[in-house]
Amino acid sequence: MKILVLGAGAREHTIIQALRRDPEKHEILAAPGNAGISADAEIVALNPSNPKVVTEFAATSDVDLVIIGPEAPLVAGVANALRKAGVAVFGPDKEAAAIEGSKAFAKDVMAAANVPTGKAWTVSTQKELKDALKQSGTPYVVKADGLAAGKGVLVTEDLDAAIEHATFYLQHGEVLVEEFLQGPEVSLFFVSDGRRIVPLSPAQDYKRAYDDDEGPNTGGMGAYSPLPWLDSNFVDTVTATIAQPVIDELAGRGTPFIGLLYCGLIVTDEGTKVIEFNARFGDPETQVVLARLESPLAPLLYAAATEVLESVEPPRFSEQCALTVVLASEGYPENPVTGREIHGLDTVAGDSQVTIAHAATAWDGSDLLATGGRVLSIIATGPSFDAARDSAYGALDKISLEGSHYRRDIALRMVS
Ligand code: AMP
Ligand code: GLY
Repeated sequence: MKILVLGAGAREHTIIQALRRDPEKHEILAAPGNAGISADAEIVALNPSNPKVVTEFAATSDVDLVIIGPEAPLVAGVANALRKAGVAVFGPDKEAAAIEGSKAFAKDVMAAANVPTGKAWTVSTQKELKDALKQSGTPYVVKADGLAAGKGVLVTEDLDAAIEHATFYLQHGEVLVEEFLQGPEVSLFFVSDGRRIVPLSPAQDYKRAYDDDEGPNTGGMGAYSPLPWLDSNFVDTVTATIAQPVIDELAGRGTPFIGLLYCGLIVTDEGTKVIEFNARFGDPETQVVLARLESPLAPLLYAAATEVLESVEPPRFSEQCALTVVLASEGYPENPVTGREIHGLDTVAGDSQVTIAHAATAWDGSDLLATGGRVLSIIATGPSFDAARDSAYGALDKISLEGSHYRRDIALRMVS
């Protein structure tokens, strides 16, 4: 298959690495990619969020399948344009992607589909805000409505901080105040062809910047999979009570969701509840989920894109333990310092338990430079989380990037 992957992060690099493990050999293109991706795919210099440019390229280059990695092209309508032109695309139209882009829309869909989630108040004035905070109680959960790259959510005990955060985002639109949900978080992905769904394997993300869940929220600093502590019926329950009802509701509204439905969940004492949906693969959870995928990826995503998901074998996962640790630039997430050299990657290339996915890198002559906040995802697998942690942290010891930081406690809770 000739496959175009849109995006430039470690998620897209991981998707490409998984496609390359398929038994069938694919021709893989990436736009815009990064230095790491350029070793595994042909780079195409086009703006991935421009519907016209992407569609013209895909149609004239005989691309069989476009896989959309990040949310920005989805919200910009890139999938709409491709679908209209008859190009198979894995990624929802913008109307369905609003499940991620608008938290108020997601709440509306969940209410209509009777999906368990926290209570929420949509506010647009200071008075509504203060009333909602009084009703929700502490800890306060305040969310911007719209994409804010993981920075729009504040969870705090401090009323003044909650008001300040909400007041900032109220300048841009509505704000959501939400009931705080207590319990471990789980990310569970579903591949959907608009009507049918198949689950991937659950993962846990580490959203805070520093060890012990200290510091600001980030896009994600690490993840592990599987989650042996989940009930054996967890995936079936989420499929039946959350994912399928949402897919049915969107189909019923005439906006079928074709792509990856990311369910962000909290396992509470009263059952599993939704904190958010995303309309795309999660980053860094994809790194650990796909590390365990044993069945081929391209046929699965192509079957979804062409609306015949029943025609392909359901995804199979290994029993291996997988974890990923994100190496971040100094100052991430607030003000990442970029342009510094990365050294040592060649020294980990020989370790078969370790894979490196590039998140923000570029070549400057023969120097590899960090070009963003999250720079690399170090992915390791092993027979136990202990072994996988040894491999991942052993590799990190050999990689240097001035001022960089990473969490040392990824999957530590899985090691007795
Ligand atoms: P979100 O961008 O909605 O995933 O929120 C970012 C992070 O804030 C989540 O990963 C949770 O750790 C936390 N969070 C969001 N909503 C809630 C909630 N209702 N209760 C508890 N924690 C939450
Ligand atoms: N890791 C969280 C996300 O992809 O949104």
